[in-house]
Amino acid sequence: MKPVLVLLVSTAWTFTGAQYYYQGLMDYLENRLLAIEDRIQFWHDQSHRYHTELQDFKKLTAEAMDGLKNEHSLLFKDLEGAAVKVDRVEREMDYVETQTSPRACANKAEKVVEQGAWGLEESRGEEEEEDWEELYSRVSDCVEIISSIRSVKILKRVGSPKGMWTRDPRSSKVYVFNGTSGESIYQFNSVRDFSRSPGVTSSRQIRLPSEWSGPGSAVYNGYLYYIQQEADTDVQVVKYDLLSGSVTDIAMFPVESQATVYNLNPETVADLAADDEGLWLLYATSDSEPNIHLAQMDPATLDIEQIWDTRCPRENAEAAFVVCGTVYVVYNTRLASRSRVQCVFDVNDMVVSEEAPLLYFPRRYGSHASLKYNPEEKQLYGWDDGYQIIYRLTMKRKLLV
Ligand SMILES: *[C@@H]1O[C@H](CO)[C@@H](O)[C@H](O)[C@H]1NC(C)=O
Repeated sequence: MKPVLVLLVSTAWTFTGAQYYYQGLMDYLENRLLAIEDRIQFWHDQSHRYHTELQDFKKLTAEAMDGLKNEHSLLFKDLEGAAVKVDRVEREMDYVETQTSPRACANKAEKVVEQGAWGLEESRGEEEEEDWEELYSRVSDCVEIISSIRSVKILKRVGSPKGMWTRDPRSSKVYVFNGTSGESIYQFNSVRDFSRSPGVTSSRQIRLPSEWSGPGSAVYNGYLYYIQQEADTDVQVVKYDLLSGSVTDIAMFPVESQATVYNLNPETVADLAADDEGLWLLYATSDSEPNIHLAQMDPATLDIEQIWDTRCPRENAEAAFVVCGTVYVVYNTRLASRSRVQCVFDVNDMVVSEEAPLLYFPRRYGSHASLKYNPEEKQLYGWDDGYQIIYRLTMKRKLLV
């Protein structure tokens, strides 16, 4: 009995010993697992935090992007609004200009006939054009100044950005000077022929004996007057008979050094204008002389009869024209904005500056390379960025002082 008991006890002891051993192991493992779980929990928390942060960041950037997008579209809208406003202001200015420019003293009947004729001329053609001209040629006593620009007609676009075109008031023929110099010009039988011609195909090309320099020529009564510049300082006025095709006169022009008459159109060496009163030459005496000078020439002999300093600056001038012995100088800015007559000079001292209107040209593509006045029709032939434009003018009588 006793050994059995001993065995039992010893087995129990051994069992208890093993139990303790396993318990310790279990505890150890449990602790380790708990530690690992803690770790995992920690990592999990950590990654969760990163994830949330990332999400927040994403949300923030998305909001910022939205904000930027909104601001961009707001800015865009603002810009559009500003453009509309600028447009409106320009229109208002146009309106104010037409309202405040001096009224013409033309009698009513005449004005109605003129307007009617203009409309007909546009729609039908030459018969009316002639009636309409006759009406003007009655006015020969030259005591008129421009009161406003009544209408604009954009005829077509031919040739390069710079050039000139004009119409002989006597023969009604139209002459086109493409570019800023050349040896040939194009002749059309009428404005209508020119406007209907595809390009210059229906014209007669006239080859001149020498090169014309700058868009400053004039045509009057079958004669072409043009500027010829051979050496740097040698400026000449050439008179060319368009009918016989020969040069009838050449006049040297006394300029000290090469200087162009309009600062914004340096290709215009000098500018000629021809009318009933004679032949006019606008020029610059030298580069150091800031004002535009005017010479009156005898159209038959090209003799210089008189010279004036117009006191109109060359700076920012783009073109000029002569109406009834009054020079109108057109100014602009280097970045072309709106052309305007800002300086007027009257050889008879009859136009006082309060009387001379500040004339704004209607908004156009660019700036004028040339403006040629036709005394019979009271209109300007303009060349603006390759477009041929006719401006019709309203005249009024000079105040006699
Ligand atoms: C006008 O002149 C330009 C170059 O200045 C030339 O390219 C063009 O063909 C000319 N056009 C006509 C109709 O002569």
